[in-house]
Amino acid sequence: MSGIIPRAFIDDLLVRVDIVDLVDAHVPLKKTGNNFVARCPFHTEKTPSFSVNRNKQLYYCFGCGASGNAIGFLMDFNHLDFVEAIEDLASFVGVPVLRDTGGISVDVDKQTVAPVYSVLQNVADYYVEQLRFAPEAKQAVEYLKIRGVNSSSIKNYAVGFAPDDWNSLEARFGKQQLIDAGLLVVNDDGRAYNRFRGRLMFPIRDKRARVVGFGARVLDDSVPKYLNSPETVVFQKNREAYGLYELLKKNARPARILIAEGYMDVIALAQAGVDYAVATLGTATSKAHLDLLFRYTSELVLCFDGDVAGRQAAWRAMDVVFAAIKEGRQVRVMLLPQGDDPDSLIKKEGRQSFEQRISGAQTLSDYFFETLASQASLGEIEGRAHFAELAHPFLNKLPEGIFKQMMFARLNELAKMPVKQMLSSGALSDSQNNRGQSRPLVQGKTQITPSRMVIALLLQNPRLIEFVEQREVVWGELEFPGVELLQTVVNKIIQKYPANAAILLEMFRDTSEFKTILALTNLELLVLDQDVENVFCATFDRLLAQAKTLKRNRLLDHAVAVGLAGLTEQERAELKGKI
Ligand code: CTP
Ligand code: MN
Repeated sequence: MSGIIPRAFIDDLLVRVDIVDLVDAHVPLKKTGNNFVARCPFHTEKTPSFSVNRNKQLYYCFGCGASGNAIGFLMDFNHLDFVEAIEDLASFVGVPVLRDTGGISVDVDKQTVAPVYSVLQNVADYYVEQLRFAPEAKQAVEYLKIRGVNSSSIKNYAVGFAPDDWNSLEARFGKQQLIDAGLLVVNDDGRAYNRFRGRLMFPIRDKRARVVGFGARVLDDSVPKYLNSPETVVFQKNREAYGLYELLKKNARPARILIAEGYMDVIALAQAGVDYAVATLGTATSKAHLDLLFRYTSELVLCFDGDVAGRQAAWRAMDVVFAAIKEGRQVRVMLLPQGDDPDSLIKKEGRQSFEQRISGAQTLSDYFFETLASQASLGEIEGRAHFAELAHPFLNKLPEGIFKQMMFARLNELAKMPVKQMLSSGALSDSQNNRGQSRPLVQGKTQITPSRMVIALLLQNPRLIEFVEQREVVWGELEFPGVELLQTVVNKIIQKYPANAAILLEMFRDTSEFKTILALTNLELLVLDQDVENVFCATFDRLLAQAKTLKRNRLLDHAVAVGLAGLTEQERAELKGKI
């Protein structure tokens, strides 16, 4: 969706906003020297190590390493996605969000979505009113009683009732909006009727409290048991989780979130005191779901019914789980006893036992290897080979790092791989290769090489591009570690001449280099402000000179190997000019 808001508008916002004011509005800042400081909002600390720099328009925490520009701050502080952060930043600055009207802009265009949100809210209110006052809702009230849903749960989750008729909504609300909101079905001859009839209604709210759709349950054994809203301009099933809004209202940063399967599970759990559960909306768990939930917690517990379907669903989720794992993200898998779901189980055994199950749930690694092992006969070489083959594609999705290495180590242990092969298999050899050329430019407290110095200085002071341009560099002829990144940074700056480091950083947000760029932008260079230009020019010139020497030495080696006659005309000219 980020493509819909024009880049130029985002840059303009970053020019208008002063990150010091923005952060100060969320976390009161104190001025010290060039910087403004506070206790870091992203980790717990006694003394302030969070600092905001007005020149760079960036924040940085020396304690936990959190860093970024105004957009990044809003995303992290308020748990917003990119578009939401832009919207909030625009309102902070006091300008309306500009959007490209071409393309697929319909799904976020305020002009069309506002009435859809509003009709959804009005209909939700209407369903609630029906449940409370309509005589024909008696059966629904009775059903809730049988299911043990108390009145405060009904209120918290805004449970309602859709009367058993075909036209009640159209009589009260605008037809087109109802259709856009998925509340009416239009049949082949163009007639519209209520999608939900005679059902208990569970409004699905997004994390900003807006009703985006409904889940609807029958009151008896008829089928389908549940009906859900279709996808609309405001509702994407794999991006919403039932109960998330209600959960966050209670606790903005839960220690863990439990992902269950059903609406009634979420409500029953919350009512019993397990108020950190959400449910997917009749769809499989998606990567978007996991990413959404990981914004609020570091641990997800995937809870599945103990039947065959539940076990299959758990295994199917592994695909997206492995893709969503990152440092600081934990997943556990909880399979319930046969025949139970969270709703029935917590009623049977109570909160304490249920929470013991949660704390005892299998770690991702245990669940993964145990499930795989149960499908292969590890007593035989063939079985172990099969086991390793099955595991590899999953483990390869993990980001480079300790966890990946440990998972591969565990795999090798279980598959009883000979030591020699172990070293040449997947991840281990990857991480060894990494010690060679493809190592990331910045790793923790790395040494500041000349090329890192030049790139970091440029990132932190984009105005230095002037000195690069003066030198009329022929990039294709340069050779030194980091030259590609330097060229990328130079090209980006020339593209737009960003006014400060924050705008330049923003240009890299969705690129593969973002992490490296962020680290270099924050690299402490110990260069005084008045020395920045001199240090930059001296280091850059040294780099250019080194690259020239390297190139000439190569040419000389080449000339010795093939003889002067073997050189191209250009090579000969170069050699002459330079000897
Ligand atoms: N679901 C759905 N459409 C269906 C059946 C189920 O969307 N036809 C979704 C709903 O979100 C439901 C969840 O899957 O809450 C779990 O379904 P199921 O296991 O069948 O629900 P139960 O736990 O049996 O539902 P209940 O407790 O309400 O009887
Ligand atoms: Mn159930």
